Amino acid sequence: MSETSPIKVFITGACAGLAEVRQSLSTHADIEVVGTAVDPEKAQQKLAASGAEVVLHGSSRGDRVPMTEVDALRGATAAPLILVTSGNAAGLLAGALAAGVHDVVLLPQLTEALVFTIRKATQLGLGRVTPIGAGRTSTTEGKVVTVFSPKGGVGKTVLACAMGAQIARTDGRRALVVDLDLQFGDVAIMMGIEPEKTIYDLVMTTGEMDPEKLAGYVLAHPSGADIVPAPVRPEDAELVSEERVGRLLDVAKEAYDAIIVDTPAFFQATTLATLDRTDHMLLVAGLDIPTVKNVKLTLQTLHLLHYPKDRIHLVLNQAGTKGDLNRSEVEKALDLKVAFEIPHDKEVRSAVNRGVPVPMAAPKSGMTSAVAQMTAELLGGAGARAGRRGRRRAGAGQTRAGRGRKAA
Ligand SMILES: Nc1ncnc2c1ncn2[C@@H]1O[C@H](COP(=O)(O)OP(=O)(O)O)[C@@H](O)[C@H]1O
Ligand SMILES: [Mg+2]
Repeated sequence: MSETSPIKVFITGACAGLAEVRQSLSTHADIEVVGTAVDPEKAQQKLAASGAEVVLHGSSRGDRVPMTEVDALRGATAAPLILVTSGNAAGLLAGALAAGVHDVVLLPQLTEALVFTIRKATQLGLGRVTPIGAGRTSTTEGKVVTVFSPKGGVGKTVLACAMGAQIARTDGRRALVVDLDLQFGDVAIMMGIEPEKTIYDLVMTTGEMDPEKLAGYVLAHPSGADIVPAPVRPEDAELVSEERVGRLLDVAKEAYDAIIVDTPAFFQATTLATLDRTDHMLLVAGLDIPTVKNVKLTLQTLHLLHYPKDRIHLVLNQAGTKGDLNRSEVEKALDLKVAFEIPHDKEVRSAVNRGVPVPMAAPKSGMTSAVAQMTAELLGGAGARAGRRGRRRAGAGQTRAGRGRKAA
């Protein structure tokens, strides 16, 4: 596009101040407003035919990414999308960028500033547009699996470490285990690794996070998995911001096939950034009433956050212990089917105490086979991505080229 031809902009949605934006852009020499529509779902054809180079979408909700509208727009055009809002948009940017939105603009805004943003989007948009279809992530990016439970001691960390080791060791794929139990994380200790560098060091570095930088901060585990441990001092947890975690996960998705995130038993500042990028949420429950009650509350919270239900997988850990509720009672109480059942396994305790992930300590154990089955179902079996093996371990700084993403 030459400097002189006006940029074709399509405006959708509605929010306070959007009419003024439309008015001022339509009289601006550098901009040609090629169409407007309140409801993007109804305007898909018009939008596709408009030749729009940029889409401005107004949303009155500053607190969340309007996923339905974003998906509809993404289905209609590959043009960069700028989200415009008049609401309080604190925290919106990271989620919006993860959803494939190019930029977020808070109204009111000087027309010149808005035109600058539009122009910037067209420049950056050349060659970098991630269409969002059924899922939000592209097939070439790694998948984020987040292990969560509102209860401590249910086996989140055991499972996260086992999955990381299993994926790297048996499936031969690049796996990263990130310990976001920032205050009391014990991924490093369970994997028998000295936390020489932690997530704290990683987020305190200056400058842009990229795959090379990440590679310099991860710790290599004998299984082949890499690890980002939790801070050594609990007080350092506070400095690990949501924005930094979001960026860390975005970069990790470029460099790894699977990112396993371990979490504390509560929602923390970094939770939203994590959820925004989570492809599979493993909600771990035991078969006791207090846990089930808290899992139910968690499901309600996830619902309020508009977290897609089809990404939630209920995992029953230590199933089959005497005196417990049974599976169907739990399913009924939660109105959710159990996706995976991990048996109680007597090998686990000694594996934990030796600092060896269960698939390595006890490859033939019930837990190992349940974890293997779970990873295969969630991420595809070893054969499913055999073509990717060649890339693994080909160099610490290896990245997927050309997937530049804006800093969150
Ligand atoms: N399937 C299992 N079989 C036997 N013991 C288990 C199993 N899962 C977890 N455990 C035990 O439970 C303890 C707590 O697990 P952990 O992963 O630290 O929980 P969380 O991270 O949820 O707080 C572990 O040290 C381990 O001994
Ligand atoms: Mg834990």
